[in-house]
Amino acid sequence: MERIKITGGRVLEGRIRPAAAKNSVLPLLAASLLCSRPCVLRGVPRLSDVDASLALLRAVGAGPVRRGPDILLPPAAVCGHVPPELAGAMRGSVFYLAPLLVRAGTVELPLPGGCRLGPRPIDIHLAGLGAMGAEISESESAVTLRRQGSLHGVDFTLRLPSVGATLTLLMAAACARGETVLRGAACEPEIADTAAFLRMAGAQIEGAGTPVIRVRGAAGPLPGGGVHLPLPDRIAAATYAAAVALAGGRIAVEHCRPGHLAPFLRFLRTAGCEITAGPDGFTAARDPDIPLWGGADLCTGAWPEFATDTAPLAAAVLLCARGESHIHDALFQNRFACAEGFAAMGALVRADGRDLWIGGDAQLHAACVTAPDLRGGAALVLAALAAGGTGTVMDSGHIRRGYQDLPAELTTLGARCTYVKTMSDATMKTASAMQMR
Ligand code: EPU
Repeated sequence: MERIKITGGRVLEGRIRPAAAKNSVLPLLAASLLCSRPCVLRGVPRLSDVDASLALLRAVGAGPVRRGPDILLPPAAVCGHVPPELAGAMRGSVFYLAPLLVRAGTVELPLPGGCRLGPRPIDIHLAGLGAMGAEISESESAVTLRRQGSLHGVDFTLRLPSVGATLTLLMAAACARGETVLRGAACEPEIADTAAFLRMAGAQIEGAGTPVIRVRGAAGPLPGGGVHLPLPDRIAAATYAAAVALAGGRIAVEHCRPGHLAPFLRFLRTAGCEITAGPDGFTAARDPDIPLWGGADLCTGAWPEFATDTAPLAAAVLLCARGESHIHDALFQNRFACAEGFAAMGALVRADGRDLWIGGDAQLHAACVTAPDLRGGAALVLAALAAGGTGTVMDSGHIRRGYQDLPAELTTLGARCTYVKTMSDATMKTASAMQMR
């Protein structure tokens, strides 16, 4: 078990570059199964969700190879059986539905895991694949899909713009027979990134990144492969900007696309941060002696609205800001499980389902808190940067799912924080037994 130790009160300064986006890399690893020639993903961070994806690829028969920051993905014959412990390890296992159905003809996927943000059904993935000709059977713990011949193109409207379902249907349509039109598709940048990868391998896709995507299917696996550099991580970029908003100082976030986090940067500007954005980076600055302004009323939504993943980060920024604020998360029912940790640090907060009310004007103090999920955990680390004393974030494994080493990244900017190994239960028992002797 690991925890993160943070000593607050240090002003941040320096330059940082976000890694490739987790939410691009995970579907891209799955999409590589659709390619008939080798693929390479460049600059892939060592995240626990990436490790779980590589384990899943190996479990179905593929042979991914990590070479430093790159991942080589040779074509392989695969089976459609996903082991439950790998499906349960991350939400990203759902990205294997379409590729395994295409490649193996059948896929049995135990229900996917991931952050406990509330119910996360996969009905839109299944409705779309069903409309393309997949036979679907569901049990309480798994879903099984089969196809007779290749999937066929379809005119399909998503009942809501799900990122995951758009990616599933894009991958399936790229290899189906005939034309597919996806309406009401998600428009997040990660969709266009996956489409660019599929196009590189020979897919014919138009409109990715808009609500209507047209795909002319290859009636089988894609003929090509190639080398792809995934998008920079917009949520990591937002995390660094939020860190300087909390701690004060001035940082440059380089090699990212500020337009991909525009609502978050606007929020920081309104709160009193100085943000200067260029085409491939931005600077964020804040005078630590001047409090930020609260009074925010934020609502998350699908792209291009305020991203749900940045809601806990915004909440952390608003804890010490002047005046009351409110955040509503329209996507997930339990986005604000981090509120308990904020309260333990002395913040006045109330979470009720999708809503979080923040009293503002908090004098945060160090505490031992628990990361409830990936972004909530990162938000607790950020809040601790603004707290007096040395605090701890337990269960920090959640944070490894999306940041290679968040404490090290913040340390390069001048923060004082580090991962600390916690003894496992077994080690603790052995240690206390030895003391008793
Ligand atoms: N939904 C359904 N049915 C479906 C699919 C989705 O009802 O078949 C609902 C979900 O329950 C949710 C909403 O639609 O309420 C949005 O879900 P979406 O499918 O868009 O999200 P996702 O694909 O499960 C991805 C990211 C999330 C990110 C969301 C929104 C990955 C692995 N996850 O999830 O990232 O918050 O899109 O942008 O790509 C994270 O990085 O920590 C994370 C949770």
